[in-house]
Amino acid sequence: MDAVDDRWYRDALIYELSVRTFSDETGDGVGDFRGLTRRLDYLAGLGVTALWLLPFQPSPWRDDGYDITDYYGVDPAFGDLGDFVRFVEHARDRGLRVLVDLVLNHTSNEHPWFQAARRGDPRFRDYYVWSSERPPDAEKGIVFPGSQTTTWSFDRVAKQYFFHRFYDFQPDLNIANPAVRDEMEKIIGFWINLGISGFRVDAVPFLIEPISATNTSPAPNLDWLRTFRSYLSWRAGDAVLLGEANVAPEQVGSYFGPGGLHMMFNFIVNQQLWLSLAREEAAPFVDGLRETAAIPGADRWAMFLRNNDELDLARLSDDDRRFVFRRFAPAQRMQLYGRGIRRRLAPMLRGDRRRIELAFAILLALPGTPVIYYGDEIGLGEDLGLRERDAIRTPMHWSPAANAGFSSAPRRELVLPVISRGAFAYPRVNVADQQRDPDSLLNFVRRAIQQRRQLPEFTSGTWEPVRARQPGIFALRYQNDESRLLAVFNLGASPATATGLDTAGLTDAFANRDYHHVGRTLELDAYGFRWLRPSTAG
Ligand code: NOJ
Repeated sequence: MDAVDDRWYRDALIYELSVRTFSDETGDGVGDFRGLTRRLDYLAGLGVTALWLLPFQPSPWRDDGYDITDYYGVDPAFGDLGDFVRFVEHARDRGLRVLVDLVLNHTSNEHPWFQAARRGDPRFRDYYVWSSERPPDAEKGIVFPGSQTTTWSFDRVAKQYFFHRFYDFQPDLNIANPAVRDEMEKIIGFWINLGISGFRVDAVPFLIEPISATNTSPAPNLDWLRTFRSYLSWRAGDAVLLGEANVAPEQVGSYFGPGGLHMMFNFIVNQQLWLSLAREEAAPFVDGLRETAAIPGADRWAMFLRNNDELDLARLSDDDRRFVFRRFAPAQRMQLYGRGIRRRLAPMLRGDRRRIELAFAILLALPGTPVIYYGDEIGLGEDLGLRERDAIRTPMHWSPAANAGFSSAPRRELVLPVISRGAFAYPRVNVADQQRDPDSLLNFVRRAIQQRRQLPEFTSGTWEPVRARQPGIFALRYQNDESRLLAVFNLGASPATATGLDTAGLTDAFANRDYHHVGRTLELDAYGFRWLRPSTAG
């Protein structure tokens, strides 16, 4: 494997999807691997280069599959391991790499390990974290306030308390136990040997904290992370770890760096971006980018607009968070856990094509690997009638046919309902119609992705935010050995003229419309954008 290929993740475009709600081939109302395999041409045609699969292992599905009962299997509703391997082969045939979720912080309480542990089986007892007394700080560190009241729950069979960072049906594994770490390595090796290119690692900071009854707030042990990485790299040199680690900027360096994570989701930039979009001001976003700019050369941020979870705004000040709520989630039922927004991209932006295109144009121009949440490329809506984060996890809309072409099952048997009412209903928002319409959002996103892939400056050079004189203008400059690039965005609802930017010798490579002219000042429509590069560039 040559060095360029080892760094494939730097140039990648990742598409996040759930097998369960993507495409149902067997007609039982639940998506499956055969259905997903059939949709690979769509994904290759969109221009993404890697797929991140949310959990698909056997599970009682009380936390959308993040409660696993068998690490070595495929939930029977989705097919079997053979279907999985065939899917990976077909994906690779189309140049698509596959990343899978690695959920090692906790298991389901129905996992055989927990069942054996609670009955006192000496082999498995220490796979989990127990305490005879309820630790005094059992209310600390709750991740889902409102849905969760404690992190230590009493187990009637074991007659002891067990630790669970998340829901009480998700007991945390005891990573301090070498036998557990050995299991973790086996799981990593198993999936890597089925041809995947790496993992999205769930809850990294929690995973590597050695909680015990006597030390309930230990520092994460980053050596363990490095051990997993070295095991992974030994098995497959080009495989990567993409970490879910929503940590403070000053901690980022210890998760990255030699032998650490290859990529991390940039939660800081994500929140600041939404604040900037709400205020129509570039400053917060630029601060976020600056704060997280210094990362080791081979490492890479993963940038995103939305994902399968609530939009977490916990890092914003109370005033800023309230402001973002007011703009993008004004009703209580759109909010979650007091700090998040359980909405999808398109409805948050009121279905306004200009704003949705602006959001994609920003995402694709950021210094990081873009991650697109399935359905956002067609402007999929949400169902606020569903519980918690299920609102944003409804099936993909493939066509205006029954059940949005997702499944041939009777409607009431669908795993989650398709959006069938209002402006985002499937007869209005679906892949088939948008494929036929050259002016559709889908075709815009496809063109934007193609443009990004043709502009190596985005991934091979240096970058810096540049300041225009207008607070609502956000601009980024890229430079590599051969060329340079200037991406300029108007976050405001009124047309603007950007001044103070060095536009000499540049011409539009991609823009929200044909602007005809690049001058010393730069015209931008309301929510308009322009990616510019030297007129002499090939
Ligand atoms: C992070 C996942 O993205 C979220 O959906 C899940 O509930 C928690 N981890 C717990 O596994």
